[in-house]
Amino acid sequence: MSERVIKIGLCGFGVVGQGVFNHVQAKAKALTDQLGAQLEITRIAVRDTKKARDFAVADGVVCDDPMSIAQDESLDVVCELMGGTTLALEVCSTALKSGKVVITANKALLCDYGPELLKAAKDGGGHLLFEASVAGGIPIIKAINEGLVINSFSSIYGILNGTCNYILTRMANEGLSYEEILKDAKDLGYAEADETLDVQGIDAAHKAVVLAYLAYGRWVPYKDLFVEGVTKVTQDDIAYAKENGYGIKLVAVIAKTRDAGKLYITVLPTLVPLKYVLGRVDGVFNAVSVRGDVVGETVYIGPGAGRDATASAVISDLVDAVKTLVCSSKNEKVPVFDPVPRCGCDMELAEPEEIESRYYLRLLVQDEPGVLAEVASRLAAYDVSLASVSQKEVAEDASQASLILTTHMTTEKAILDAIKNLEGYECVDAKPFMMPIGNFED
Ligand code: NAP
Ligand code: HSE
Repeated sequence: MSERVIKIGLCGFGVVGQGVFNHVQAKAKALTDQLGAQLEITRIAVRDTKKARDFAVADGVVCDDPMSIAQDESLDVVCELMGGTTLALEVCSTALKSGKVVITANKALLCDYGPELLKAAKDGGGHLLFEASVAGGIPIIKAINEGLVINSFSSIYGILNGTCNYILTRMANEGLSYEEILKDAKDLGYAEADETLDVQGIDAAHKAVVLAYLAYGRWVPYKDLFVEGVTKVTQDDIAYAKENGYGIKLVAVIAKTRDAGKLYITVLPTLVPLKYVLGRVDGVFNAVSVRGDVVGETVYIGPGAGRDATASAVISDLVDAVKTLVCSSKNEKVPVFDPVPRCGCDMELAEPEEIESRYYLRLLVQDEPGVLAEVASRLAAYDVSLASVSQKEVAEDASQASLILTTHMTTEKAILDAIKNLEGYECVDAKPFMMPIGNFED
């Protein structure tokens, strides 16, 4: 009996698209044997059809019109691997409305238009799969949707951006500035086409929104997240972290407040104790800790960006697409995971006064008598109590000093209000830099 042929269109043939193409071709026989169906990439859309590619493609396959792929009735599956949120939205919506399986790696698109895309799938009989959108090669979406399906979650902590973790690791190991390392991250295919999405924490925040939907059933608007990237981390911060048993990581926290059970999402450079596994996850690796009421804590670690890691995740969606298509052709209903029945969708968001942490503050201050006392007094006015104060010895004739403070437990509102106050103090010469000190014990 001849195998069913599943026809696939790729919109995008860059880092991820070429990775998918390469591995689908290289493992074609194994995939066919396993699935009883043949995966055939019959169409590819790019922006520039003349650009040299790393893999040879048969004549007539490549075009420059992704919408023609979305509308192509001969295709079963459309993979959106272009990025952006305008054409990508049009491509995905069109393909979903015509009942296709759509696979995307585009977390920006999901963050901005997740509900619309899921509705388009439901209305049109299509399916939306997005394993590669979060944490690269780690199958975290499958873990939450399937492996941990019986759990309610108290927290998810994630190192979700490979580029930032790669940069922070090399800053710590080689003493380089982030700008010097960013170029390598781009050359290695880790960074977004617009790398500000990575270094400003926006990409990690997009992923956090997707995880929050899966774990808590609610699409949290991006504007409700507290997001800061890695651009302000300096060698002073790294030196403090090393001396005190921490790693600096860009950590996404998607969690419920302890008392009221309200949801909050932050993406911030964070001091992570090295004794906690996330503090030791380096390079392009991502890590996600998920705490469930039934299982306890599970932690997932793996490459978070790059051609092969991401292709691995996209191809896992392709395999799910085949199962879906085979069931559909037999008129069997394919169970589609929906987090809303598991968690509801009405979780309240926490206010800054309900979010608690310890914090690290670095201030550039004028080296004058009374400045430290004034800083401490201004923090105390917001009930922020100091746990440590340190200042490197400065030269006799220096005019400025870098002051590093850590606080006891306080609220996000108190620390932000106190920082605002310090910005207005004439002896503070630059905007203070703040990081939470992660408490990952519970
Ligand atoms: P990329 O290397 O820049 O590739 C983008 C591809 O899309 C290119 O082939 C480009 O064509 C094509 N494209 C872009 N705009 C187009 C348009 N208007 N019309 C036709 N084709 C268009 O990007 P990537 O790194 O593969 O990322 C693709 C998606 O995967 C993004 O959503 C990204 O966030 C996501 N993602 C990336 C990674 C990673 O590690 N890189 C990991 C996870 C998820 P040309 O080649 O002709 O320019
Ligand atoms: N630019 C992203 C990162 C790609 O570095 O994590 C993977 O989503």
